[in-house]
Amino acid sequence: MKKRELKISFEEYSNLEDLNTEDRSLLDQAIESVNKAYAPYSQYYVGAALKLKSGEVVTGNNQENVAYPSGLCAERVAIFYASSQFPKMEVETIAITAKTDQFEMDDVVAPCGACRQVLSEYEIKQKKPIRVMLHADGGKVLIFDSIKSILPLMFHAEELKK
Ligand code: THU
Repeated sequence: MKKRELKISFEEYSNLEDLNTEDRSLLDQAIESVNKAYAPYSQYYVGAALKLKSGEVVTGNNQENVAYPSGLCAERVAIFYASSQFPKMEVETIAITAKTDQFEMDDVVAPCGACRQVLSEYEIKQKKPIRVMLHADGGKVLIFDSIKSILPLMFHAEELKK
């Protein structure tokens, strides 16, 4: 038996003012998108903004349903919409943020497992990493250089061929 370690490195900004103009603008669009979320059951509002290589920005937010599992997270709303509109898209960065007035947020919002899996599909498809920017209302910003960093040991198509 061998003990192994997986290391993930990421950038941490204590303030969104410290981001470069392009990242700041993308995050601002995610923050704006939060206000259009439909989350009457959790009152937890999430926004995602995708920057495509073409320069296009696509946003999405969480859409809940009274039959709870029928709702969808902001990240999947955004990326499914983006792919449906721009099937040849290349995603450079996804910015994700959240807001609630139910409690004080002291950490970033981290995408759920299903969203990480869905995002990984597009990263593999485009053969280029998707940067991930995580934020929450009033807090710090974390930047990861790929979906792989937040989904180590991911299931991928090669597994189906073995
Ligand atoms: N949610 C997202 O939209 N993205 C995440 O990364 C985490 C969770 C949504 C799903 C649900 O509408 C609400 O947040 C509470 O879980």
